[in-house]
Amino acid sequence: MMRSDEYLLDNQQTEAGERFDAFASLFDPTTFRHLDGLGIGPGWRCWEVGAGGTSVVSWLAKKVGPTGRVLATDIDTSRVAPAARPPVEVRVHDVGADEPPGEGFDLVHARLVLVHVPDRERALRSMVKALRPGGRLLVEDADPALQPLVCPDEHGPEQQLANRLRQGFRHLLADRGADLSYGRRLPRLLRDAGLCRVEADAYFPVSSPASVALESATVRQIRCRLVAAGHATDQDIDRHLANIDSGDMDLATAPMISAWGRKA
Ligand SMILES: C[S@@+](CC[C@H](N)C(=O)[O-])C[C@H]1O[C@@H](n2cnc3c(N)ncnc32)[C@H](O)[C@@H]1O
Repeated sequence: MMRSDEYLLDNQQTEAGERFDAFASLFDPTTFRHLDGLGIGPGWRCWEVGAGGTSVVSWLAKKVGPTGRVLATDIDTSRVAPAARPPVEVRVHDVGADEPPGEGFDLVHARLVLVHVPDRERALRSMVKALRPGGRLLVEDADPALQPLVCPDEHGPEQQLANRLRQGFRHLLADRGADLSYGRRLPRLLRDAGLCRVEADAYFPVSSPASVALESATVRQIRCRLVAAGHATDQDIDRHLANIDSGDMDLATAPMISAWGRKA
Protein backbone atom coordinates (compact mmCIF):
# COMPACT_ATOMS: atom_id res chain seq x y z
CA MET A 1 0.00 0.00 0.00
CA MET A 2 1.34 3.41 -0.94
CA ARG A 3 1.58 5.70 2.06
CA SER A 4 0.81 9.36 1.63
CA ASP A 5 4.51 10.25 1.79
CA GLU A 6 5.10 8.07 -1.27
CA TYR A 7 2.74 10.07 -3.50
CA LEU A 8 5.07 11.32 -6.23
CA LEU A 9 3.63 14.84 -6.51
CA ASP A 10 3.67 16.00 -2.89
CA ASN A 11 1.08 18.75 -2.22
CA GLN A 12 3.49 20.56 0.16
CA GLN A 13 5.90 21.57 -2.60
CA THR A 14 5.38 25.05 -4.06
CA GLU A 15 4.91 23.60 -7.56
CA ALA A 16 1.81 21.72 -6.35
CA GLY A 17 -0.13 24.99 -6.22
CA GLU A 18 0.91 25.78 -9.80
CA ARG A 19 -0.17 22.29 -10.88
CA PHE A 20 -3.60 22.66 -9.25
CA ASP A 21 -4.10 26.05 -10.95
CA ALA A 22 -3.21 24.43 -14.28
CA PHE A 23 -5.62 21.52 -13.66
CA ALA A 24 -8.35 24.06 -12.93
CA SER A 25 -7.70 25.95 -16.19
CA LEU A 26 -7.45 22.78 -18.24
CA PHE A 27 -10.16 20.60 -16.74
CA ASP A 28 -12.66 22.63 -14.68
CA PRO A 29 -14.86 23.49 -17.69
CA THR A 30 -15.17 19.78 -18.53
CA THR A 31 -15.75 18.78 -14.90
CA PHE A 32 -18.36 21.50 -14.33
CA ARG A 33 -20.20 20.55 -17.54
CA HIS A 34 -20.44 16.96 -16.32
CA LEU A 35 -21.51 17.96 -12.82
CA ASP A 36 -24.20 20.25 -14.23
CA GLY A 37 -25.32 17.37 -16.46
CA LEU A 38 -25.69 15.16 -13.39
CA GLY A 39 -28.11 17.70 -11.94
CA ILE A 40 -26.05 19.20 -9.09
CA GLY A 41 -28.10 21.78 -7.22
CA PRO A 42 -29.15 23.26 -3.87
CA GLY A 43 -29.12 20.91 -0.91
CA TRP A 44 -26.93 18.21 -2.50
CA ARG A 45 -24.50 16.32 -0.26
CA CYS A 46 -21.19 15.88 -2.12
CA TRP A 47 -17.93 14.11 -1.43
CA GLU A 48 -14.95 15.48 -3.35
CA VAL A 49 -12.25 12.79 -3.20
CA GLY A 50 -8.57 13.77 -3.50
CA ALA A 51 -9.67 17.40 -3.72
CA GLY A 52 -6.19 18.87 -4.26
CA GLY A 53 -6.85 22.62 -4.56
CA THR A 54 -9.96 24.73 -3.98
CA SER A 55 -11.49 25.34 -7.41
CA VAL A 56 -13.84 22.32 -7.68
CA VAL A 57 -14.77 22.43 -4.00
CA SER A 58 -15.61 26.16 -4.16
CA TRP A 59 -17.73 25.64 -7.28
CA LEU A 60 -19.58 22.76 -5.60
CA ALA A 61 -20.17 24.90 -2.50
CA LYS A 62 -21.84 27.62 -4.61
CA LYS A 63 -24.02 25.05 -6.36
CA VAL A 64 -25.23 23.24 -3.23
CA GLY A 65 -25.66 26.42 -1.17
CA PRO A 66 -26.12 26.67 2.60
CA THR A 67 -28.49 23.69 2.78
CA GLY A 68 -26.00 21.37 1.07
CA ARG A 69 -22.76 19.77 2.15
CA VAL A 70 -19.35 19.42 0.49
CA LEU A 71 -16.92 17.05 2.14
CA ALA A 72 -13.43 17.55 0.67
CA THR A 73 -10.95 14.79 1.49
CA ASP A 74 -7.30 14.22 0.59
CA ILE A 75 -4.25 12.50 2.04
CA ASP A 76 -2.80 16.02 2.22
CA THR A 77 -5.37 18.76 2.74
CA SER A 78 -2.94 21.69 2.90
CA ARG A 79 -4.05 23.14 -0.45
CA VAL A 80 -7.81 22.70 0.01
CA ALA A 81 -7.88 23.89 3.65
CA PRO A 82 -8.54 27.56 2.70
CA ALA A 83 -11.96 26.48 1.33
CA ALA A 84 -13.03 25.04 4.71
CA ARG A 85 -16.08 27.08 5.64
CA PRO A 86 -19.74 25.95 5.55
CA PRO A 87 -20.96 24.15 3.54
CA VAL A 88 -17.41 22.82 2.98
CA GLU A 89 -15.75 20.48 5.46
CA VAL A 90 -12.16 19.36 4.87
CA ARG A 91 -10.85 16.07 6.21
CA VAL A 92 -7.65 14.02 5.87
CA HIS A 93 -8.65 10.68 4.35
CA ASP A 94 -6.95 7.99 2.27
CA VAL A 95 -9.55 6.75 -0.20
CA GLY A 96 -7.60 3.55 -0.82
CA ALA A 97 -7.25 2.58 2.82
CA ASP A 98 -9.83 4.28 5.05
CA GLU A 99 -13.53 3.50 5.47
CA PRO A 100 -15.80 5.86 3.53
CA PRO A 101 -16.32 9.08 5.51
CA GLY A 102 -20.10 8.63 5.57
CA GLU A 103 -23.03 7.41 3.51
CA GLY A 104 -26.00 8.91 1.72
CA PHE A 105 -24.08 11.24 -0.61
CA ASP A 106 -25.95 12.56 -3.66
CA LEU A 107 -22.67 12.95 -5.52
CA VAL A 108 -19.17 11.52 -5.24
CA HIS A 109 -16.49 12.95 -7.52
CA ALA A 110 -12.79 12.22 -7.99
CA ARG A 111 -10.59 13.85 -10.64
CA LEU A 112 -7.07 12.67 -11.46
CA VAL A 113 -6.87 10.74 -8.19
CA LEU A 114 -7.54 7.02 -8.63
CA VAL A 115 -4.69 6.57 -11.13
CA HIS A 116 -2.38 7.30 -8.18
CA VAL A 117 -4.09 5.05 -5.62
CA PRO A 118 -2.57 1.55 -5.56
CA ASP A 119 -5.75 -0.01 -4.14
CA ARG A 120 -8.00 1.83 -6.58
CA GLU A 121 -10.44 -1.08 -6.63
CA ARG A 122 -11.11 -0.59 -2.93
CA ALA A 123 -11.27 3.17 -3.46
CA LEU A 124 -13.97 2.80 -6.11
CA ARG A 125 -15.96 0.39 -3.92
CA SER A 126 -15.76 2.86 -1.06
CA MET A 127 -16.96 5.72 -3.27
CA VAL A 128 -19.95 3.69 -4.51
CA LYS A 129 -20.77 2.59 -0.97
CA ALA A 130 -20.90 6.24 0.13
CA LEU A 131 -23.66 7.06 -2.39
CA ARG A 132 -27.36 7.01 -1.59
CA PRO A 133 -29.51 4.90 -3.94
CA GLY A 134 -29.88 7.05 -7.07
CA GLY A 135 -26.75 9.03 -6.15
CA ARG A 136 -24.30 10.01 -8.91
CA LEU A 137 -20.65 9.05 -9.26
CA LEU A 138 -18.31 10.99 -11.54
CA VAL A 139 -14.77 9.65 -11.89
CA GLU A 140 -12.35 11.52 -14.11
CA ASP A 141 -8.93 10.07 -14.69
CA ALA A 142 -6.06 10.38 -17.07
CA ASP A 143 -5.12 7.64 -19.49
CA PRO A 144 -1.48 8.48 -20.28
CA ALA A 145 -0.99 5.21 -22.19
CA LEU A 146 -3.73 6.18 -24.65
CA GLN A 147 -1.72 9.28 -25.65
CA PRO A 148 1.71 9.17 -24.00
CA LEU A 149 3.35 12.21 -25.63
CA VAL A 150 3.65 15.75 -24.33
CA CYS A 151 4.47 16.73 -27.93
CA PRO A 152 2.31 14.61 -30.27
CA ASP A 153 3.83 16.66 -33.15
CA GLU A 154 7.42 15.53 -32.56
CA HIS A 155 9.04 17.63 -35.27
CA GLY A 156 12.37 18.66 -33.72
CA PRO A 157 14.93 18.05 -30.95
CA GLU A 158 12.98 20.17 -28.44
CA GLN A 159 9.92 17.97 -28.87
CA GLN A 160 12.01 14.78 -28.74
CA LEU A 161 13.57 15.87 -25.46
CA ALA A 162 10.15 16.78 -24.06
CA ASN A 163 8.77 13.35 -24.97
CA ARG A 164 11.80 11.60 -23.49
CA LEU A 165 11.34 13.41 -20.18
CA ARG A 166 7.61 12.61 -20.26
CA GLN A 167 8.51 8.94 -20.68
CA GLY A 168 10.70 9.22 -17.55
CA PHE A 169 7.78 10.78 -15.66
CA ARG A 170 5.55 7.87 -16.71
CA HIS A 171 8.17 5.40 -15.42
CA LEU A 172 8.28 7.20 -12.06
CA LEU A 173 4.49 7.06 -11.81
CA ALA A 174 4.37 3.38 -12.77
CA ASP A 175 7.13 2.57 -10.24
CA ARG A 176 4.80 3.95 -7.54
CA GLY A 177 1.90 1.77 -8.63
CA ALA A 178 0.05 4.25 -10.87
CA ASP A 179 -2.12 2.57 -13.52
CA LEU A 180 -1.39 4.46 -16.72
CA SER A 181 -4.24 2.82 -18.68
CA TYR A 182 -6.87 3.36 -16.03
CA GLY A 183 -9.02 5.98 -17.71
CA ARG A 184 -10.22 3.72 -20.52
CA ARG A 185 -11.38 1.08 -18.03
CA LEU A 186 -13.69 3.40 -16.10
CA PRO A 187 -17.02 2.70 -17.84
CA ARG A 188 -16.62 -1.06 -17.36
CA LEU A 189 -15.46 -0.64 -13.75
CA LEU A 190 -18.41 1.61 -12.94
CA ARG A 191 -20.85 -0.95 -14.41
CA ASP A 192 -19.07 -3.78 -12.54
CA ALA A 193 -19.46 -1.75 -9.35
CA GLY A 194 -23.22 -1.89 -9.84
CA LEU A 195 -23.85 1.54 -11.33
CA CYS A 196 -26.47 2.04 -14.01
CA ARG A 197 -26.83 4.59 -16.84
CA VAL A 198 -23.04 4.60 -17.23
CA GLU A 199 -21.53 6.90 -19.86
CA ALA A 200 -18.04 8.24 -20.53
CA ASP A 201 -16.21 10.73 -22.72
CA ALA A 202 -12.75 12.27 -22.94
CA TYR A 203 -11.13 15.68 -23.10
CA PHE A 204 -7.67 16.09 -24.56
CA PRO A 205 -5.90 19.48 -24.61
CA VAL A 206 -3.44 19.57 -27.53
CA SER A 207 -1.89 23.01 -27.03
CA SER A 208 -2.62 25.56 -24.33
CA PRO A 209 -0.79 27.93 -21.97
CA ALA A 210 -2.10 25.90 -19.02
CA SER A 211 -0.40 22.78 -20.42
CA VAL A 212 2.86 24.75 -20.54
CA ALA A 213 2.40 25.86 -16.91
CA LEU A 214 1.58 22.27 -15.90
CA GLU A 215 4.62 20.84 -17.67
CA SER A 216 6.96 23.43 -16.17
CA ALA A 217 5.66 22.87 -12.62
CA THR A 218 5.66 19.08 -12.97
CA VAL A 219 9.21 18.89 -14.32
CA ARG A 220 10.52 21.24 -11.62
CA GLN A 221 8.70 19.21 -8.97
CA ILE A 222 10.07 15.82 -10.03
CA ARG A 223 13.45 17.06 -11.26
CA CYS A 224 15.51 15.32 -8.55
CA ARG A 225 13.67 12.05 -9.03
CA LEU A 226 14.07 12.12 -12.81
CA VAL A 227 17.81 12.64 -12.38
CA ALA A 228 18.21 10.11 -9.54
CA ALA A 229 16.43 7.42 -11.56
CA GLY A 230 18.66 8.09 -14.59
CA HIS A 231 15.79 9.29 -16.81
CA ALA A 232 17.45 12.68 -17.43
CA THR A 233 20.43 14.84 -16.57
CA ASP A 234 20.22 18.26 -14.95
CA GLN A 235 21.34 19.70 -18.30
CA ASP A 236 18.42 17.95 -20.07
CA ILE A 237 16.00 19.45 -17.61
CA ASP A 238 17.47 22.98 -17.85
CA ARG A 239 17.30 22.76 -21.65
CA HIS A 240 13.70 21.52 -21.57
CA LEU A 241 12.61 24.28 -19.16
CA ALA A 242 14.29 26.89 -21.38
CA ASN A 243 12.59 25.39 -24.46
CA ILE A 244 9.15 25.58 -22.91
CA ASP A 245 9.84 29.10 -21.56
CA SER A 246 10.47 30.24 -25.12
CA GLY A 247 6.72 29.95 -25.69
CA ASP A 248 7.09 28.22 -29.06
CA MET A 249 6.12 24.71 -28.05
CA ASP A 250 2.72 23.06 -28.37
CA LEU A 251 2.29 20.91 -25.27
CA ALA A 252 -0.46 18.36 -24.77
CA THR A 253 -1.69 16.42 -21.77
CA ALA A 254 -2.89 12.85 -21.49
CA PRO A 255 -6.59 12.49 -22.29
CA MET A 256 -8.81 12.86 -19.26
CA ILE A 257 -11.62 10.33 -19.34
CA SER A 258 -14.80 11.21 -17.47
CA ALA A 259 -17.14 8.35 -16.58
CA TRP A 260 -20.38 8.69 -14.69
CA GLY A 261 -23.33 6.65 -13.55
CA ARG A 262 -25.99 6.23 -10.88
CA LYS A 263 -26.24 3.86 -7.97
CA ALA A 264 -29.22 1.59 -8.50
C1 LIG B 1 -3.22 15.03 -9.52
S1 LIG B 1 -3.88 15.66 -8.04
C2 LIG B 1 -5.54 16.10 -8.52
C3 LIG B 1 -6.15 17.11 -7.60
C4 LIG B 1 -7.59 17.53 -7.92
N1 LIG B 1 -8.52 16.42 -7.81
C5 LIG B 1 -7.68 18.14 -9.29
O1 LIG B 1 -8.21 17.53 -10.21
O2 LIG B 1 -7.20 19.28 -9.44
C6 LIG B 1 -4.14 14.20 -7.10
C7 LIG B 1 -4.65 14.47 -5.69
O3 LIG B 1 -5.01 13.21 -5.12
C8 LIG B 1 -4.53 13.15 -3.79
N2 LIG B 1 -4.35 11.73 -3.44
C9 LIG B 1 -3.38 10.88 -3.86
N3 LIG B 1 -3.56 9.67 -3.30
C10 LIG B 1 -4.68 9.76 -2.53
C11 LIG B 1 -5.38 8.83 -1.67
N4 LIG B 1 -4.93 7.59 -1.53
N5 LIG B 1 -6.49 9.27 -1.02
C12 LIG B 1 -6.92 10.55 -1.17
N6 LIG B 1 -6.29 11.47 -1.95
C13 LIG B 1 -5.19 11.07 -2.61
C14 LIG B 1 -3.23 13.95 -3.82
O4 LIG B 1 -2.83 14.38 -2.53
C15 LIG B 1 -3.63 15.10 -4.76
O5 LIG B 1 -4.21 16.17 -4.04
